[in-house]
Amino acid sequence: MSARIRIRSALAGEGLGNEIMIKGWVRTIRAGKEVAFLALNDGSCFANLQVVAEPRLANFADICAIGTGAAVAVRGILVESPASGQRYEIHAEEVEVIGAADESYPLQKKRHTFEYLRSIAHLRPRSNTFGAVFRVRSSVAQAVHRFFAERGFLYVHTPIITTSDCEGAGEMFRVTTLDPAAPPLLEGEVDFSRDFFAAQAGLTVSGQLEGELFAQAFSDIYTFGPTFRAENSNTPRHAAEFWMIEPEMAFADLMADAALAEEFFRYLCRHVLDACGEDMAFFNDHIDKGLIARVEQVANSSFAIMEYGEAIERLTKATVKFEYPVEWGLDLQTEHERYLTEQVVGGPVFVINYPKYIKAFYMRMNDDDKTVAAMDLLVPKVGEIIGGSQREERLHVLEGRMAEVGVNPEGLWWYLDSRRWGSTPHAGFGLGFERLIMNLTGMENIRDVIPFPRTPRHAEF
Ligand code: 4AD
Ligand code: MG
Repeated sequence: MSARIRIRSALAGEGLGNEIMIKGWVRTIRAGKEVAFLALNDGSCFANLQVVAEPRLANFADICAIGTGAAVAVRGILVESPASGQRYEIHAEEVEVIGAADESYPLQKKRHTFEYLRSIAHLRPRSNTFGAVFRVRSSVAQAVHRFFAERGFLYVHTPIITTSDCEGAGEMFRVTTLDPAAPPLLEGEVDFSRDFFAAQAGLTVSGQLEGELFAQAFSDIYTFGPTFRAENSNTPRHAAEFWMIEPEMAFADLMADAALAEEFFRYLCRHVLDACGEDMAFFNDHIDKGLIARVEQVANSSFAIMEYGEAIERLTKATVKFEYPVEWGLDLQTEHERYLTEQVVGGPVFVINYPKYIKAFYMRMNDDDKTVAAMDLLVPKVGEIIGGSQREERLHVLEGRMAEVGVNPEGLWWYLDSRRWGSTPHAGFGLGFERLIMNLTGMENIRDVIPFPRTPRHAEF
């Protein structure tokens, strides 16, 4: 009895001329009196393997009745296929139905909208598009780790439950074991000192603050984990749970930060072209016609850098009409970001040195006293994909900033300590992993690049 091999290997010709065993799910079936053809997919690659079954098989009638979606095991000889469009096929000696599927299986042959497929998120990984998306996602995640491993960055697991709101935007989900109907009160307020952590805790919005502590010991570190934001924005680019990659480097300034971000982004573009060719060809043909050329261009280009002030000037001079106002001191909206990267630059651009009022407390104050050493990387179609900065390493300046924006220093005594002893200029950034996958695949909704999206009012599966 041959051991099972994956369809990817069979389609590469492994076992050609010999008996092999494959297992997978039926994508399509065409059955006639003389022969039945089953297209089988096991998730290992985009293409299906064609199974040819003939009436001499004892259970031929049963094979002809197999439904789309059924799980089957096939033993047979791998041969060169006479048909066009595939190199190899398997001539079945035995077809065993492992798990049947009837006509009520929702993923029958016809094309479905992404919206419909979201309503069957438990089944959509078995479709062509989502098979490709999640293979790319997995491969790119591994490339992320490889990139940092090759450069000596320490991988640190920062906590998911935390008592500090890194971005200070008040978007933390609460973590509590208090009875919501009757929480303990102290002077009319909920008494969190009696909660599980004896403090108001939540799900992390970023691993940065803890990452900074590790950078002050290991020099170069990164985190790659889930982050949570109770942002009530129902957009194609926001999720309540998303994954973020956050490197942090000691002895580094904003320009070193931008250089790392560029090298990283280009590395991942190159990776997806080299390692995910078949899936990328699908996206290029069916999802986003110019995708491969665009990713190729980004992989080979050096990124532009533009001061926030110049960005505002360019936007003010733009002939297009924006929905949101443009003015020095206001944050850039997606429409502005896309205009800058798509129309002005025609490629990725770092916008740097934003007004302090629209950025987080930890960013390093520039000498002009108005702007901070922030950088956002903007890319076509997505807008902001990376947010980063040089950090304020001067204790008194940091304390001043915290007071200015109303961040309570008591809860962050440990963060301030990192500026007390052996403080270094340091910098880092956060890359939203889903936005990266959107950019690399051409998928336009964040809900379609994360297995089970969490967005306002949606956490069913
Ligand atoms: O710009 P953000 O908020 O930066 C930080 O969290 C910093 N602590 C990062 C750092 O310097 N270490 O978020 C970083 C990136 C964004 O550029 C975006 O790609 C992604 O995270 N992001 C989201 N992705 C999906 N859904 C959301 N709600 C997101 N919010 C941010
Ligand atoms: Mg940001």
